Amino acid sequence: MLKVKKPIIAIDGPAGAGKSTISRKLAHELGLLYLDTGAMYRAITWLVMDKGIPLDDTHAIALEVEKATIELSPSDDLKLPVTVRVNQRDVTKEIRTPAVTKNVSHIAAQKAVRAKLVKLQQVYGKQGGIIAEGRDIGTNVFTNANLKIFLTASVNARAKRRSHDLRQQGETNIDLPQLEKDIAQRDFLDSTRELAPLQQAPDAIALNTDNLSIEEVTEKIKQFIAGSEK
Ligand code: CDP
Ligand code: CDP
Repeated sequence: MLKVKKPIIAIDGPAGAGKSTISRKLAHELGLLYLDTGAMYRAITWLVMDKGIPLDDTHAIALEVEKATIELSPSDDLKLPVTVRVNQRDVTKEIRTPAVTKNVSHIAAQKAVRAKLVKLQQVYGKQGGIIAEGRDIGTNVFTNANLKIFLTASVNARAKRRSHDLRQQGETNIDLPQLEKDIAQRDFLDSTRELAPLQQAPDAIALNTDNLSIEEVTEKIKQFIAGSEK
């Protein structure tokens, strides 16, 4: 199907649009590397919190980030998240806590953090053959990607997906209006920040996933891949 042997595919969009699930599935089916750039911003956020550095101390954060090592190893098992190591410590679980989720947009807005992580992402993508997902992949990290997709869904649909995920994890006390507020707040912070805000690249294809299953979205993107090669 893929004529470009080592394509770069960029998938951007807000929280809960389906980026990681669909990117991972596509990478698995097409034999490409899956790059979860949000995991990198989460890893730095975890590190800053672990060191007890205030979120607005940009100088101390820059120093910490500069010397940090971050490694991602995607699993072959679609059900398992990417293994993430910061300074050799496995923080795969820690980076998904509500506290990290709450703080990550503040850390991701900082210049030193973005500079370091974008460079690292571009190293991962150097050889091509990659599906990278995040907020600024098509607009900033891989502006020359072979295909750019901008996944969206309403706040309500995304909050419902999150509540379903939480229920699966055994959570019983779920506050849907609060989940909607948290998602809307992160959308706001990510799309109004000065550096590489969340926005659709002019050459990206927008895909609303409100009424589409994971399989349907995956199929549509495969069609776009085929179409982009004609
Ligand atoms: O999985 P979820 O959609 O909740 O978020 P994520 O993809 O893990 O990203 C976490 C946060 O990292 C986002 O809310 C952004 O603040 C930041 N991020 C970013 O600024 N740029 C990226 N390319 C990816 C994530
Ligand atoms: O990475 P992102 O935050 O954009 O979203 P995700 O973590 O891939 O998806 C959030 C949840 O929505 C997961 O449980 C997906 O299985 C689910 N989902 C869905 O039910 N239908 C879709 N079309 C896309 C995602």
